[in-house]
Amino acid sequence: MQFFVDTAEIADIRKLYDMGLLDGVTTNPSLVAKSGRDFKEVVKEICSVVPGPVSAEVASTEFDGMMAEGKVLAKLADNVVVKVPLTVDGLKATKKLGAEGIKTNVTLCFSPNQALLAAKCGATYISPFLGRLDDINLDGVELIEQIRQIYDNYNFTTQILAASIRTPNHVTQVALAGADVATIPPAVIYKLADHPLTKSGLEQFVKDWKGTGQSIL
Ligand code: G3P
Repeated sequence: MQFFVDTAEIADIRKLYDMGLLDGVTTNPSLVAKSGRDFKEVVKEICSVVPGPVSAEVASTEFDGMMAEGKVLAKLADNVVVKVPLTVDGLKATKKLGAEGIKTNVTLCFSPNQALLAAKCGATYISPFLGRLDDINLDGVELIEQIRQIYDNYNFTTQILAASIRTPNHVTQVALAGADVATIPPAVIYKLADHPLTKSGLEQFVKDWKGTGQSIL
């Protein structure tokens, strides 16, 4: 499973990329607003740090606007993936952008039927939002499982990009469900390495090693 980071904060992106943990980046209008940065500038900067796919979302909700904005975003860097909402206009734009060789990420997916439509329109990625389903007492992981089965039944090549991930448990669950990619907030990525037994075990090893009085170098 590939790891994308879900943020527009360049400092976190640099740190995670240097750790060798990053295959790509996703942003959305809310994350860009939070960063306080100019949208196109920040997308260009992210693309210069991470060679993998970087999702940048259109602001328009109409087909013509999505097409015009998508083409501008795609020209910012070779690794830009144009993110469009899962609406009829968004699906139409997905098909048309794909025909023009532009990669797409169809976002705000909350049902298997929506994912089926995105695949039929040739989306590069589909982004089901787990956490927001869990928020309203539905099962986000079950949605990933259903999409996996549907895509496998028909050999769709659209990649399942599990989004709205909130916890380390979500990461395990989407990996078990067969998501191709998980886009994860920085704080959750850092938590994945933590385990109390790793911490206490290492403290003991350090103490015992000091006791030997030896040096490896
Ligand atoms: O980028 C889309 C998604 O990951 C947003 O997550 O936590 O705002 O539901 P969240």
